[in-house]
Amino acid sequence: MTRRRPVVAIDGPAGAGKTTVTRKVAAELGYLLVDTGAIYRSVALSAKRHGLDFADAGAVGTLAQALAERSAIRFAASADGGQRVLLDGDDVSTAIRTQEIAEGASLVSAIPAVRAALLDMQRRAGLPGGVVLEGRDIGSVVFPDAEAKFFLTASVEVRAVRRKAELEARGEPADLEVIAREVRERDHRDSTRPVAPLTQAPDAVLVDSSGIGIDEVVGRIVAHVREVERRLASPA
Ligand code: DC
Repeated sequence: MTRRRPVVAIDGPAGAGKTTVTRKVAAELGYLLVDTGAIYRSVALSAKRHGLDFADAGAVGTLAQALAERSAIRFAASADGGQRVLLDGDDVSTAIRTQEIAEGASLVSAIPAVRAALLDMQRRAGLPGGVVLEGRDIGSVVFPDAEAKFFLTASVEVRAVRRKAELEARGEPADLEVIAREVRERDHRDSTRPVAPLTQAPDAVLVDSSGIGIDEVVGRIVAHVREVERRLASPA
């Protein structure tokens, strides 16, 4: 379809700075932000609250479908200009950020029925354009026709250091070696699963944030999207 403003897909592994970067990119562009990781995390949280095993494909698949059907997972603006995640109206923005739910999200996101249930929800959110979607498979599966695609990554070491700082800021003590191993394991699981593995779409712009600051990363992405906007406004 022809859109006036692009769909911006930002994919990449955990800890590459995606959440911070996409938030800033969306704010600078005045675009809507859809954090698809938060959707998978919400499914994991709901599974936990229902006492389900994260790896129980049948039960978690049925749960995800029910959540999608009643539009149970929603985003709302927060007072500080950020975003709140609502699960059946309950603010779960903080509850979905624990290590347990991160692990759970990685497990439930490997279930094909879960991915299928959440696909439509993501497509509907992005379809009109003027939207930044952050995830793992946005440029490859959810919006293969996105007009602007980025694959944001960083070395395992840099991502582990960032994750450690994040955990410590929340008062959770963290060991760098352990975190680096978890980062590697999560990468492996996310990129080797049979359905929609984490992968760089061939037409995605690769951005490695290991040696550059957040603002520089945001600047590059915004500049590229502006170019795409100009192209859409005056097709050749
Ligand atoms: O980006 P995040 O850490 O919030 O993502 C949580 C988990 O969800 C992560 O293990 C990968 C998975 N995920 C996915 O499979 N597909 C997406 N589009 C987004 C996240």
